[in-house]
Amino acid sequence: MRRIYLDYSATTPLDPRVLEAMSFIFKEQYGNASSVHSFGREARKVLEESRERIASFIGARSDEIFFTSGGTEADNYAIKGVALAGKKKGNNHIIISAIEHHAVLHPAEHLREEGLNVDVVPVDSSGMVDPADIQKAITPETCLISIMHANNEVGTIEPIREISAIAKQHGALLHSDTVQSVGKIPVDVNELGVDLLSISAHKLYGPKGIGAIYIRKGTEIKTLIEGGAQESNRRAGTENVPLAVGFAKAVELCSIEDEAKRLNQLRETFRVKLFKKFNHLVVNGHPKAHLPHILSVSFDSTAMPVDGEALIMGMDLRGVAVTSGSACTSGSLQPSHVLLAMGRDEKTAKATIRFSLGRLTTEDELNDAVEALEDVLTKMQTNK
Ligand SMILES: Cc1ncc(COP(=O)(O)O)c(C=O)c1O
Repeated sequence: MRRIYLDYSATTPLDPRVLEAMSFIFKEQYGNASSVHSFGREARKVLEESRERIASFIGARSDEIFFTSGGTEADNYAIKGVALAGKKKGNNHIIISAIEHHAVLHPAEHLREEGLNVDVVPVDSSGMVDPADIQKAITPETCLISIMHANNEVGTIEPIREISAIAKQHGALLHSDTVQSVGKIPVDVNELGVDLLSISAHKLYGPKGIGAIYIRKGTEIKTLIEGGAQESNRRAGTENVPLAVGFAKAVELCSIEDEAKRLNQLRETFRVKLFKKFNHLVVNGHPKAHLPHILSVSFDSTAMPVDGEALIMGMDLRGVAVTSGSACTSGSLQPSHVLLAMGRDEKTAKATIRFSLGRLTTEDELNDAVEALEDVLTKMQTNK
């Protein structure tokens, strides 16, 4: 059976050139980057070169980039680190959106339990935050606003620049989770006007287990991982040089403009085919401001009830790897908080497929995915 991978938003395959670059470091340059001898100095040199490459990719300075274990850690660091620094000055309020990744939502919930005021701004039916809602929520005590650049389930791109203007007016810091957008669309820290930003290597054909946080010079943030002076005292622990080199190589290999154009075309052709073939489909996400590679569709439950779990499993049995966006908690499928925040009813939210395309996706694969979906739905109807 042909296997088709359409879950690039969950993770991407490692680019063989990245593997090659890392393999050399694993084998030849295994020194500890904090050691003063020649092995250490060699490792330090490639680590700093990697940092520089990643920094320049997002328009930052290299001393504003700190390696983490991935996007989740970068998000946790931004939220908790800024909130703890803000608390000292009596700034006890943060703003997030209802469609943030759990890596932002959960630390924010945790801080709320400890007494922090957390405002969660809504989104419209396309998953877009209205900057006016941020304006309404912001107070003199707001230390941080955290709004993702692009949503991982529906691909909607948020108005970060407008939100940045509001944050600046009120002296609040702005963090953006750019895990899904970096490498897919242009991301520049100064154009976006962010103070902190999270990135992850495995979403852009790099290795799993490494990411970075951008912290604008002068930003007040408390260090969370202590025990060493690494990463300029911001994140203790022996630096993961091979993965940092792989991350930088992955960044170097991104050709955003060409790939975004190709994926947008593939996505659009695919969307049209799906809509020709199936009734009662709705697209989740903004019709224009969306990532080039994510297409999330739901079957409208009021017109055609579909068992979402069986749908995803059926696709998997047909060799097509997709996701629903819903979380499986204690054995039952929970509708996605993103789709619910966008106003979808529970049943429709559960009957969702997120297709996410990538570098190896072809039109032929997408044609097969349409056929697979037809087969799966037919089987589900006849088994009823
Ligand atoms: C928007 C977003 N933020 C954060 C993360 C977490 O990143 P990581 O897997 O590197 O911890 C993900 C991963 O799915 C994501 O999509």
